[in-house]
Amino acid sequence: TRSRIIGCGSYLPANVVTNDDLAKRVDTSDEWIVARTGIRQRHIAAEGETTSDLAFAAAKSAMEHAGVTSDDIDLIIVATATPDNTFPATATKVQNRLGVKGFAFDVQAVCSGFIYALTTADMYIRNGQAKTALVIGAETFSRILDWEDRRTCVLFGDGAGAVVVQAVEGTGTIEDVGILANRLHSDGSKYELLYVDGGPSATQTVGHLRMEGQEVFRHAVTNLASVIREVLADTGLEPGDIDWLVPHQANQRILDSTARKFGISKDKVVVTVDRHANTSAASIPLALAEAVHDGRVKRGDIVVLEAMGGGFTWGASLMRW
Ligand code: ACO
Repeated sequence: TRSRIIGCGSYLPANVVTNDDLAKRVDTSDEWIVARTGIRQRHIAAEGETTSDLAFAAAKSAMEHAGVTSDDIDLIIVATATPDNTFPATATKVQNRLGVKGFAFDVQAVCSGFIYALTTADMYIRNGQAKTALVIGAETFSRILDWEDRRTCVLFGDGAGAVVVQAVEGTGTIEDVGILANRLHSDGSKYELLYVDGGPSATQTVGHLRMEGQEVFRHAVTNLASVIREVLADTGLEPGDIDWLVPHQANQRILDSTARKFGISKDKVVVTVDRHANTSAASIPLALAEAVHDGRVKRGDIVVLEAMGGGFTWGASLMRW
C-alpha cells in the first residue's frame, strides 16, 4: 500500500496587506521587501478569525476536490505553530466541525510542519491504521509577529492549505503513483536562530517571533539541498526527473538558490511567496493546490515538496502524481 494525494484545497483570509501598507507602520519600503524577499503582499486573518477557521475552510475545499465526505475521513492531522488554544489540538476542532469520527491531532514543526504531517499520515496509511486522511497546514502568524520589528513583520502571512491522502495499491516500484519517499530532520541546537519568545510553560504569554535572518538563510540553503538529494537517492531519480518543485515559500532568494543548485529551471518551481508571503506550515499545500487546480501538475508527474523551519526542522517528500 502507498498513499496518494487525491485532492487539494486552500483558504486565504480576505484582507490583503501590501508592502506599502506596512511602510505606514514600520520604517520599510516596497523596494526593500521585494528586492530581499520577493514578497509583494500577504493575507491577514480578520479579528476573531482563527487558525481552525482557516483550516476548516481549506479542508472543505480539499474534500470537495477529492470527492470525499466526512464519513470517508478516518484521520485528521493539522500542522500548525499557531493553534487556536494551547489545547485541545486544532485538529480536534476541525474534526468536530466536519463531523469526522476517526482520530485527530496536531503536529508542530513550524515551517516544516506540512512535510512532517504528510509523512505521519503516510505512515498510518501504509501500516493500515487509516485509509483516508486529511492533512492540513494552517497558520495565523500575524498573531505572533512583533509589528514593531521591521526585520520580521514584513515576511509572514496567514492562510491554510489541505490535502486528502488515500491508500492506493502499489507494486512497490518507482512507477507507482503516490508518495515514494519522505525524509525528516531536526537540529535543536539552532533554537535561538528562529523561535517564539513566549509559551504557556516558559512565560505564560503567547510571545513574538524572533529570527536571525542571515543565519537562517544560510542553513536553509544547505539543509534543503541535502534533503532533496536524499529523496532523489531513495528513489534513484535525478534532478532532471523532477517535474515540479513545490517548496516552502519563505523567500524568493532561497527558492532561486535551491533550484539553481539542482539545475531546475524556474518554470518548474511553484511560487506563491510574492502574493502569500511566508505562511509557515500552510505554504506548501497552498502552493500545491494552486499548481494542481490551474493544471500545471498532471498525472504521472514527479513532484518534490521541501521545507525548512524553526527548531531547526527540515524535510522533503517525493511523489508521483
Ligand atoms: N525594511 C527596510 N530595512 C530593513 C528591513 C525592512 N523590512 N528589515 C531589515 N532591514 C535592514 C536592517 O535593519 C539592516 O540595516 P542596518 O544594516 O542599518 O542594520 C539591513 O536592512 C540589512 O539587514 P539584514 O538582516 O542583513 O538583511 P538581509 O539581506 O539578510 O535580509 C532577510 C533579511 C530578508 C530576513 C534575509 O536574511 C532572509 O531572507 N533570511 C531568511 C529568513 C527567512 O526566510 N525566514 C523565514 C522563516 S524560516 C523559513 O521559513 C526557512
